[in-house]
Amino acid sequence: MRHQKITTTVRAGIDTDVQHGAVMPPVYLSTNFNFAGLGEQREYDYSRSGNPTRDLLADAISQLEGGQGAVVTNTGMSAVVLVTYLLGANDTLIAPHNCYGGCYRAFSSLAGAGRFKVRFADFTQPGSIRKLCLRERPKMIWLETPSNPLLRVTDIDAMADIAHEFGALLVVDNTFLTPLLQQPLSLGADIVVHSTTKYINGHSDVVGGAVVARTPSLVEELAWWANCVGSTASAWDSAQTMRGLRTLHARLRCHEENAQAIARALEHHDAVSRVYYPGLVSHPDHRLARSQQSGFGGIISFELAGGERSVEAFLSGLKCFTLAESLGGVESLVCHPATMTHAAMTEEAQLDAGIGPALLRLSVGIEHMPDLLGDIARGLERVQKLVSVPLKMACSA
Ligand SMILES: Cc1ncc(COP(=O)(O)O)c(C=O)c1O
Repeated sequence: MRHQKITTTVRAGIDTDVQHGAVMPPVYLSTNFNFAGLGEQREYDYSRSGNPTRDLLADAISQLEGGQGAVVTNTGMSAVVLVTYLLGANDTLIAPHNCYGGCYRAFSSLAGAGRFKVRFADFTQPGSIRKLCLRERPKMIWLETPSNPLLRVTDIDAMADIAHEFGALLVVDNTFLTPLLQQPLSLGADIVVHSTTKYINGHSDVVGGAVVARTPSLVEELAWWANCVGSTASAWDSAQTMRGLRTLHARLRCHEENAQAIARALEHHDAVSRVYYPGLVSHPDHRLARSQQSGFGGIISFELAGGERSVEAFLSGLKCFTLAESLGGVESLVCHPATMTHAAMTEEAQLDAGIGPALLRLSVGIEHMPDLLGDIARGLERVQKLVSVPLKMACSA
């Protein structure tokens, strides 16, 4: 196993201002920078191509991931699409059939427009991916681990071996865990993608993304494309995201403590037919998650017993969980993947990926744990009242 510990603390510009001694680094909002003289270009000339504030964030994320550099983008999706610029029209991308719905839509639409070819596959069986590679000879393999919304875990080390056997790049979307809980490059991946909108910023007030690469040449190619197609982030968004990143370790500890407690409560409740949280021993990928992650994160999915009608009963009256898409903010959210985050998938694709009508996903925030547990317990009581027969018996009948 290639797992190794990488730094978790980055100073990121703290106490580096020589002009005024500012403890926090200044924010460079300027779109352009002067030339020192004719033919004397400075490090920065135009903020789409390069900006000191954005570079601070890029360096911090890259250091945490153990990469050779990063490109900070204006959305997570632009980070995802940026990586696909490494593919030509005849190249094949293999991606998980249960990846984030927006990635699924982008990959299938771009493939439909002839930009590259895509094959969606079930990544729970590395052997079947190898067989698919033998047939398709991919140029890139995409992982999302843990996956969204069912939190299935893919063996990054094993997938890196398969990708490299076929000369393909292994890309890992590390949005759900962040570099503090999982470092895909240390497990053999070539590129890491983030929606920084989620845990890295962590306050649900900036949309952004990042791509980190293992080699300087990949960083250079990605940065070239980011400037070419204009996917780089603004200085202000970068500064805000940097501010979020500075508290990531503290927030993640709290997210996970709350999530563990809620997952255990759900697991033992009759109104719940199934819980998906890799931190539970009952999760099919618990051992793998333990071996390649240093934490289990704050996302839980679960299916309510009683089917679709239970969803409304559970949701109505929740006080601490807001019905909303997205995840990874300090506030707790609940989402119905079939009609929200994964609505872009056809019903058939949803069912294929295990996304049923009674599935809910929680992004557990950092609020006071008893408040969250009480809110969930009351929601489950409403479900229990709705279904008169003992639910576990009804489900197994
Ligand atoms: C795993 C994952 N990757 C990428 C994205 C896209 O990020 P953004 O919404 O910041 O464009 C999301 C958004 O939910 C996501 O969950």
